[in-house]
Amino acid sequence: MKVFTTIVEIQNYLKSNHPKTVGFVPTMGALHEGHIALIMKSIAENELTVCSIFVNPTQFNNLDDLKKYPRTLEQDCEILQDAGCDVVFAPSAEEMYPTLPSLKIDFGYLEHIMEGKFRPGHFNGVGIVVAKLFNIVKPTKAYFGQKDVQQVAVINRLITDLSFDLKMVVCDTIREKDGLAMSSRNRRLSPEARGHATKIFQSMIIGQKLLLEGYSTFVVKNKVLDFYKENPQFKLEYYEIADFETLESIDELNPKRRTAIIVAAHLDGVRLIDNYIF
Ligand code: PAJ
Repeated sequence: MKVFTTIVEIQNYLKSNHPKTVGFVPTMGALHEGHIALIMKSIAENELTVCSIFVNPTQFNNLDDLKKYPRTLEQDCEILQDAGCDVVFAPSAEEMYPTLPSLKIDFGYLEHIMEGKFRPGHFNGVGIVVAKLFNIVKPTKAYFGQKDVQQVAVINRLITDLSFDLKMVVCDTIREKDGLAMSSRNRRLSPEARGHATKIFQSMIIGQKLLLEGYSTFVVKNKVLDFYKENPQFKLEYYEIADFETLESIDELNPKRRTAIIVAAHLDGVRLIDNYIF
């Protein structure tokens, strides 16, 4: 496995090896089985797989969150090597941003709901870094997790609006046995908080059950708010019931369309997000 830290190095390597297909998995490191599922899918579908590890400062709207984001490059490289990844791209912030980008990307409606609303500027940072990485790696296919459902919508727009010549592949959310979605942030939870963390998954299953019983989203949201009140370890940021395709809030379940329940909550000073699609 090759590990590159500069754009010139990785581009020279890709140019001289000219693989027929390149699969690309962008990450911020602190890798877990969710990331590895994307890597394995890319390995199965491409001649060469590139994983980027870059804690992108421009997508953090909270400096403390950026500082506390786990950085485990050495361990990540071992995991990637074992998984069979071909190339790791782990640039410094200076390499990626010799000057701070003046370009601003506005994803319209997606900026005003959920992650867009609660993390102003976040998707601008995601859009710019992913566009830069696409230009550097020039992948045939790029792999993203359903875990970040709104990020998937944003990257879809990015690919369409900027005519990136690649296919996006979206992979299912990988969960712990108790339902907690795997996340790099989970390792910051105390053992006690980790015990509570499964309740985010439970709150989505409760919501699904009530919706299927015919309750309106208004009633369901209120019942779920009560659930979170009974579990004061959580500071709920949002609990949305939306159309899966448009991510717009819905009032009633539409049996002809897929529904997404999307949650963001703080637990033990850690911000966790998850979603459940049915
Ligand atoms: P990161 O949070 O490291 O996630 C990298 C990729 O792994 C994303 O596509 C994410 O959706 C996926 N992923 C995370 N947890 C997962 C899980 N439990 N199951 C399946 N997939 C999972 O998302 C980012 O980094 C950044 O925003 C990035 C796209 C790299 C841009 O900086």
